Amino acid sequence: MPILYNGSTREFHLQTEKTSYIFSVMENGQLGQLYYGKKLRHRESFERLFHVEATPNTACTTEGDLVFSLDLVKQEYPAYGTTDFREPAYQVLQEGGSRITDFVYQDHRIFGGKEKLEGLPATYAENDGEATTLEITLYDQEIDVEVRLSYTVFEELDAIARSARFTNYGEADVNLTRALSVSIDLPDANFEMVQLSGAWARERHIKNRRLVPGLQSIASTRGTSSAQQNPFLALKRPETTEHQGEVYGASLVYSGNFLAQVEVDHYDTARLMMGINPFDFNWLLKNGESFQTPEAVLVYSDAGLNGMSQTYHRLYRTRLARGKWRDRERPVLINNWEATYFDFDEQKIFELARSSKELGVELFVLDDGWFGKRDSDTSSLGDWFEDKRKLPNGITQLAKAITGLGMEFGLWFEPEMVSKASDLYNAHPDWVIHVPNRRMSHGRNQLVLDFSRQEVVDFIYGLMAKVLRDAPISYVKWDMNRYMTEVGSLGLPADRQREVAHRYILGVYSLYERLTSEFPHVLFESCAGGGSRFDPGLLHYAPQGWTSDDTDAVERLKIQYGTSLVYPVSSMGAHVSAVPNHQVGRVTSLETRANVAYFGAFGYELDVTMMTDTEKEQVKEQIRFYKENRSLIQQGQFYRIESPFAEDGNRTSWLVVSDDQSEALLGYYQVLSTPNPGLSRIFFKGLNPEFEYAIEGLDATFYGDELMGAGLQLNRYRLNEHPADFSSVVYKVKRV
Ligand code: DGJ
Repeated sequence: MPILYNGSTREFHLQTEKTSYIFSVMENGQLGQLYYGKKLRHRESFERLFHVEATPNTACTTEGDLVFSLDLVKQEYPAYGTTDFREPAYQVLQEGGSRITDFVYQDHRIFGGKEKLEGLPATYAENDGEATTLEITLYDQEIDVEVRLSYTVFEELDAIARSARFTNYGEADVNLTRALSVSIDLPDANFEMVQLSGAWARERHIKNRRLVPGLQSIASTRGTSSAQQNPFLALKRPETTEHQGEVYGASLVYSGNFLAQVEVDHYDTARLMMGINPFDFNWLLKNGESFQTPEAVLVYSDAGLNGMSQTYHRLYRTRLARGKWRDRERPVLINNWEATYFDFDEQKIFELARSSKELGVELFVLDDGWFGKRDSDTSSLGDWFEDKRKLPNGITQLAKAITGLGMEFGLWFEPEMVSKASDLYNAHPDWVIHVPNRRMSHGRNQLVLDFSRQEVVDFIYGLMAKVLRDAPISYVKWDMNRYMTEVGSLGLPADRQREVAHRYILGVYSLYERLTSEFPHVLFESCAGGGSRFDPGLLHYAPQGWTSDDTDAVERLKIQYGTSLVYPVSSMGAHVSAVPNHQVGRVTSLETRANVAYFGAFGYELDVTMMTDTEKEQVKEQIRFYKENRSLIQQGQFYRIESPFAEDGNRTSWLVVSDDQSEALLGYYQVLSTPNPGLSRIFFKGLNPEFEYAIEGLDATFYGDELMGAGLQLNRYRLNEHPADFSSVVYKVKRV
């Protein structure tokens, strides 16, 4: 049983395959944390893990007692204002102005499986045996409000998902000014905080910093999870590497404003917290209303960062992503964006599709510019019907013509946006996120539709569903190209204006839910000006996302390496594009561009009609190779070997290994060529030491133990034959 409860000590012991999470009801009725980390054998009581002692210069909860202070005690879901001076997990503003609460244990239930979170994406169990859930109800009698903490233990998948749900049973209104999803008090602060930070075209770069006393945080206030910070953080021991040592990961299944922070206090403990960003947030709870927080997924690994990543990959690929495409091999696609931008017509699109079909491409994606009167980014968002000037026979006919070639057809939408120059804006100027009598800021000449309003979501649903019903469309790229400003909604009263950003995200999720339910055959790819909303929330609906607008092979090393800290290879859209690269102007070989893009949901984004015959042959071969290996790539175990974020960062290597260890694919990349380079070896991971492997192109066989222990001497092989900048090699490794 993965959740054990001891009624006499009121202790809970949650166990996954390799971890233990232990807490208890304290003497004051609140929940105290005892332990989270490597699995401990169960015992009658873990009381000794509870620590409190008299400390100077503090406040204690009970008169006459100089010992019990929440200032020192590790807690599950801490409050501010009653002797704990650290930032709390929640705050409830009450009539009369008080923020003081006392949520004490009321009861709990343990059940097989996992219930859905209302309106929010979350991990799930396919049957009651896959996960066990503990729900603990805490109750504050004074205000008649309950908070239900939920813990789902994925025993085999080795992860714990947490969330909280507030319900107001009282007559009086209350306001949640803060309602985070998770809080963990770790007993020491000897950690580095690992985060994924960046910007447009350089998303999810890995950054590390040593914890210091005080608060350290990452957050988004942009209305999306953002390119600047990803809703993830890890705490690793300073000595932890990719493959060894302790690390705690926390990942938020959410696509909007978030906060992830660590507070190191004066006793050198570390409090990790994560949830909806309390900044500019408030949620009014009237009698009978509930508020559900998003889910946070916790992973502990003592096998380094890579061990943590593999746990997230498995869980997110198989029990967060869902639908028909979850386990299916993803089609090799071509997207016309970098080939044509807005400048295309039916003939051009058909030619691109026909030429790419000859090369083996399986899915043609028509990107931005097919609707309204969209010749540039200044108009037409919201008018989701075809531009007859460019497509005189309409989308349906074009889709039929392309599917007639034996390919699938996919289409781009940006459902959440509207251009001022559009029929939609003319008809409903009030349907945008804005504040009356204040200037509306623009981003990419567009405004954000008010998805906190049901009628707006319904209207966009109607337009999109019509296109998807009429035409043979089996893929949708769902884009979102600007952050939110002047956040306000005409659909909500004054005291609910701080709910807009979260309600907007709930609106986005509800549209995804409707469309994915009605069109289960459609593969959704999420996108937000590249990777500005690449998060677990959207992965629930869209099993792949556009990783970045930066398609340069060298830049992609960092982006894909960083993204892989949490997200599976199958979720990362990766395309071969033209050179000089449109984002950085770099010229890399077609081989290297493909060698990088192979490690993702693979595709092309260039004008194939302009390619030479030699290039076409090369592309044909690349597509053949990808198809041959895609189940390995998309479903295998991913190992990061050499990091582009290392001090010199000139080399990157990574590897995918099939579950049965019979085959693997190694990618090795060198940014700048070095004259007369030193010897270098690459140390494989995850192979079976007993298996004998052949490496395609090399005239020898190797046992797994040799490839992992002695490594493969690289310089004697291909990379040195043609020294060049941006060189790379992909090795197929197969058991003989
Ligand atoms: C931003 C996306 O990231 C691109 O791939 C492309 O779809 C453009 N938007 C189209 O406007």
